[in-house]
Amino acid sequence: MAQIVQITDIHLVGDDGPLLLEHDTRAAFLRIKDYLYQHHLNCERLIVTGDLAHDEGEQVYQELFDALAPWHDRLRVIPGNHDARMPMQKVFAPIIRDDHESVSFQDELNGWLLIGLDTLIEGAVEGDLAGQQWTWLREFVSAATKPVAIFMHHPPVFVGSRWVDELSLTSLGVFSNLVEEFEQIKLVICGHVHQEFQTKIFQADVFTTPSTCVQFKPNSVDFAVDKSPPGLRIFNLHSDGTFETEVIRL
Ligand SMILES: [Fe+2]
Ligand SMILES: [Fe+2]
Repeated sequence: MAQIVQITDIHLVGDDGPLLLEHDTRAAFLRIKDYLYQHHLNCERLIVTGDLAHDEGEQVYQELFDALAPWHDRLRVIPGNHDARMPMQKVFAPIIRDDHESVSFQDELNGWLLIGLDTLIEGAVEGDLAGQQWTWLREFVSAATKPVAIFMHHPPVFVGSRWVDELSLTSLGVFSNLVEEFEQIKLVICGHVHQEFQTKIFQADVFTTPSTCVQFKPNSVDFAVDKSPPGLRIFNLHSDGTFETEVIRL
């Protein structure tokens, strides 16, 4: 069994930066980091699925990278809509794919193939695959002889809240067709919606995960904050293609 820890939507601001919806995102991140240090120091992967920073620059990414030093050899990152691609590429260069158009990764773990996609459209809240990633993704899954887990910030599904569903992946149909075509795609793991959710696209299980800071209220027509506590998600991947997952709230 191999363990992946997913954290998402950290929204870290610069020193003395503003609160996010009355939340101190730095304090919230540091609590999560302490929890990981105590309980998941030896996880096989730590994957951060976007909105690492809240509209900030290189300094904030460097702070995050330094804070996650115990996991550097197992850390993977992808951007969200609040991120900026250039400073991410600069700071995370040692751990991301060498691709000027995206902040993405590909990886293997215990009989699984992992792929991290960049869905950041700079200046927009909704997302889509940047650069040549549709081609890369199709090549990756068509060559795959092992189960594939896809990580992406924007969910390729609706979660039942109108306001946030209007801000998901724009190419839902294209993505869904790809999943239908390639049965190797077993898992799709997302952030962005700041809430726990689970559904399926054909054979693939799709999961979203609570933010490390503020949560959004499920099943809301308009934007609304939820009082549920911050969280993270654990995946245990087995070499036979099965897995278990659970959300942990702090
Ligand atoms: Fe977010
Ligand atoms: Fe987001």
